[in-house]
Amino acid sequence: MEKLLIKGGNNLSGKIKCSGAKNAALPMIAATILSDEKIILKNLPYLQDITTIFELLGSMGAEILLDENMNFTISSSNLKDIEARYELVKTMRASILVLGPLLAKYGKAKIALPGGCAIGTRPVNFHLDALKQLGAEINLKNGYIEASAKKLQGNKIKFDGVTVTGTENLMMAATLAEGRTILTNVAKEPEIIDLAEMLNSMGAKISGAGSDEIIIDGVESLHRTEYVIPADRIEAGTYLAAAAVTNGNITVEGINPKRLMKVIYKLNDAGAQISHDENSISISMKKDRPRPVDVTTAPFPEFPTDMQAQFSVINAISNGTSNIYETVFENRFMHILELNRMGCDITVQGNHAVINGVPSLYGAEVMATDLRASASLILAGLCAKGETIVDRIYHIDRGYERIEEKLNYLGADITRLPS
Ligand code: UD1
Repeated sequence: MEKLLIKGGNNLSGKIKCSGAKNAALPMIAATILSDEKIILKNLPYLQDITTIFELLGSMGAEILLDENMNFTISSSNLKDIEARYELVKTMRASILVLGPLLAKYGKAKIALPGGCAIGTRPVNFHLDALKQLGAEINLKNGYIEASAKKLQGNKIKFDGVTVTGTENLMMAATLAEGRTILTNVAKEPEIIDLAEMLNSMGAKISGAGSDEIIIDGVESLHRTEYVIPADRIEAGTYLAAAAVTNGNITVEGINPKRLMKVIYKLNDAGAQISHDENSISISMKKDRPRPVDVTTAPFPEFPTDMQAQFSVINAISNGTSNIYETVFENRFMHILELNRMGCDITVQGNHAVINGVPSLYGAEVMATDLRASASLILAGLCAKGETIVDRIYHIDRGYERIEEKLNYLGADITRLPS
């Protein structure tokens, strides 16, 4: 397995460009199933999760072409197979995103149950309950979700809990349902708005995305479109956090700061100077050590759970004590044990981490457990004294495009060690 060797202590400086957002791209690729025409997606990030969903679509019979400008043309009409097999689903829970589109377009779907993962049980009951309310018949058999429907029927649906991919699944399914669907208690993440915009550009009739209520008027069919994947707000936030822990001075380009306001406020609280325009964010961390900042994760527009691990590192080297409450996922503190091996002083009780800042961290061999946990270990390695080796970095390749290249461009010293 490949590893990253990080020589810590360098201050980051310079400019980098944000890649396309994984969490926007995944539902958009799934949405191509809804159309008989070709969909062109631009600015797709080169990531393992994107390869996985293409593999999934390809295994069903979709045609995927890449041109010289790195634009993907996806033709998902006439799929021959409507099954998402366990081998693929187990590596990426977001495979569940094909359920809604398959049901809406083909009237049936067979998807392996995602099961547990490193950051909690992450069930899909909200997706399934809501799809049933559109008239789908759903059975769980031999580890698979078997779903069918003659024609989905619009309905008023209140989600039992806020779910990002659940909201996306339902939004996609309802585009081809008969009549009006009203979704409430929905997720309001920017990626929901992105998906609604893309679907509307295909002829869907969706309003209210980004608010508490999404209204979808079903249409007969969806047509071709071209869509540019927006920048990845979590990637941007991770690089800003990397600058914060290395007394850095960097600009992340291509990102709309409105997608990251809570993170920007917290970086300010930690003592960073932030400036931004519509399409970039700059950070300068002149303070010797960050100030401690309390963080409570919650659905957008609150502080994103996907930035929690990175803020654990900012707090770990701060000049005081802070609290992090993780309210979105159970068991999302796997990075803490590894961080403590690098000299952090963090105790966890349930969903609450108490972090006593220490003056400095030291390098160690650590193991990544999930995507954002790996990011936090890299951040810790960047500010630690000596060498850090991060193992199991396949987690990071799922969600960060060329991370060591980008960080090295900013002045870091990271080498990818072959397996
Ligand atoms: C998405 C993001 C992920 C992010 C998360 C929360 C993608 C591809 N992934 O994941 O990066 O960390 O949102 O912002 O966009 N839940 C249930 N039943 C369900 C669905 C969810 O109990 O049917 C629970 C989950 O276990 C979790 C919470 O609801 O505790 C939120 O999960 P959800 O918003 O669904 O996360 P994902 O969509 O999987």
